[in-house]
Amino acid sequence: MAHERTGPRALRWDGRRLHVLDQTVLPAREDWLELSGAQDTAAAIARLAVRGAPLIGIAAGYGLAMEVAALPGLGTLEDGWALLRDARPTAVNLAHAVDRVKAAALAAGPATMAAAARAEAQRIHAEEDAASAEIARRGAERLGGARRLLTICNTGALATGGRGSALAVVLELHARDPGVHVLACETRPLLQGARLTTWELAAAGVPHALVVDGAAPGLIARGEVDAVIVGCDRVALTGDVANKVGTYPLALAAREAGIPFVVAGPTSTIDRALEDGAGIRIEERGPDEVRTAGGALLTLPGVAVRNPAFDVTPAPLITALVTERGIAEPPGRATIGALLA
Ligand code: MRU
Repeated sequence: MAHERTGPRALRWDGRRLHVLDQTVLPAREDWLELSGAQDTAAAIARLAVRGAPLIGIAAGYGLAMEVAALPGLGTLEDGWALLRDARPTAVNLAHAVDRVKAAALAAGPATMAAAARAEAQRIHAEEDAASAEIARRGAERLGGARRLLTICNTGALATGGRGSALAVVLELHARDPGVHVLACETRPLLQGARLTTWELAAAGVPHALVVDGAAPGLIARGEVDAVIVGCDRVALTGDVANKVGTYPLALAAREAGIPFVVAGPTSTIDRALEDGAGIRIEERGPDEVRTAGGALLTLPGVAVRNPAFDVTPAPLITALVTERGIAEPPGRATIGALLA
């Protein structure tokens, strides 16, 4: 198996079909879904069965490859590409991946389109696996000595290739220093921290505690955190970062407390066409994700809801952006430009 490795993993390509762990039912159940084309892959991405910026790029690449394998042709390619690209708006990895697979298929032509698309999807997967290992190494070197870490959402193997982005750095720090301890924000409303990050940390034997999102800034202010480390869904050329909603208050608290606020992610999350964070489209998800938890109603049934899935942290609040190509510190036009050169 091309991407066999130890530890949890979120998806498996068998050469023909994509198998994904349904992240909506973790940790209660470990259900695997078999995906066969653009439609079911886009649906799995939209309902967060598959999630995390790099992982939705990998899955979407395979989704488009499976679509053109079933019926090679320009119409299939164009329709599958559009469907997958629209599945979620904020993480740029999704668009990057399907654009790459489409370009490879177009360059190959009808006779070899399916093979070219599949090869490109596998290349994206392999690149993300390799990026994760480099991010873990570089991030752990940058944050060496930090023992009490705080993170939000899930940025581990369930969200990326390899072992993750921010969580891969945490795992590497723990491998180097068993005294490392993690505060994991629960990440309302879909509880990626409570359900997925604790599951990964427990599997890896990393000591941790779960905190409600609202508690995190106060714990940072009380001196209980050495560094905050988070992932990213889209990075602008100025270094502004979109990530899971609740990230921005952590950055403000870290700045006030004088501790590092570090963002980790592959360069596939940098949007070369985006000047600054004001241009990032923030996904607004449905109201029932906020009105309910685990199927139980938490409020009045018809209460008005705002449910932005992400927020934008301005570059001046970010200490460093750790990528597989190097660290942009402080993140800004010059340092990010150097990474992309
Ligand atoms: O809505 P999600 O669960 O897809 O959001 C994921 C995040 O915000 C992650 O922090 C980000 O994608 C980075 S994953 C390495």
